[in-house]
Amino acid sequence: MDGNGRWATRRLLPRVAGHKVGVDSLRRCVRACAARGIAVLTVFAFSSENWNRPQDEVSGLMDLLAMALAREVPQLVKDGVQLHFVGEREGLSPSVRGGLAQGERATAHNTGLILNVCFNYGGRWDIAQAARRLAAAGTEINEDSLSQAMALGHVPDPDLVIRTGGEQRISNFMLWQSAYSELYFTDTLWPDFDEASLDQAIAAFAGRERRFGKTSAQVAGGEQRRPQAA
Ligand code: IPE
Ligand code: MG
Repeated sequence: MDGNGRWATRRLLPRVAGHKVGVDSLRRCVRACAARGIAVLTVFAFSSENWNRPQDEVSGLMDLLAMALAREVPQLVKDGVQLHFVGEREGLSPSVRGGLAQGERATAHNTGLILNVCFNYGGRWDIAQAARRLAAAGTEINEDSLSQAMALGHVPDPDLVIRTGGEQRISNFMLWQSAYSELYFTDTLWPDFDEASLDQAIAAFAGRERRFGKTSAQVAGGEQRRPQAA
């Protein structure tokens, strides 16, 4: 969800004003994904590296998280959204941690869209914490066990990764899980990313050929469509 700061600066507003509108954009995106039958939406809200921002912006983001939780969770409960926070909790204040846990508890029995909010998250952190946990338990470390031990182990790998705001890099997001994801970059700033922007991204995704290491001829030959044994 990149581009909040620039959106605000262009309007001569403080950066935190952009983050506020970013929350509105997220609410819209969650509804749009649910309406389109998307099963899982994972958003990058605050990275392990974002602590290096000016202190007032960091505290503004923490306050905004608390406010957004208080305001949005009742509606998420009604809409059937199951909320998960993904990231290192230790570094967060007790009140923020309490808010995250409460939001998760309140939506735990929902069966609609799974919304993962990556907060104090980094892709490398996730790989390292998963490996550390497996090693401590004496479990063999392989691709399957690592995938399951990751903080994102409760959802399948993403089909599509969208980055708004014009940068064309991954910036430590879902490093392990995006191995075969389609990547989509748009100059649209996150606060401006609306239903039409989402539909454009989905249309681009639909036009891609996903080969998973196979040849184009194999994919066209229907190998992937072979019926699964019951
Ligand atoms: C929001 O966008 C994402 C967060 C890390 C909170 P930015 O704050 O990175 O916006 P720009 O890139 O400065 O425009
Ligand atoms: Mg940015």
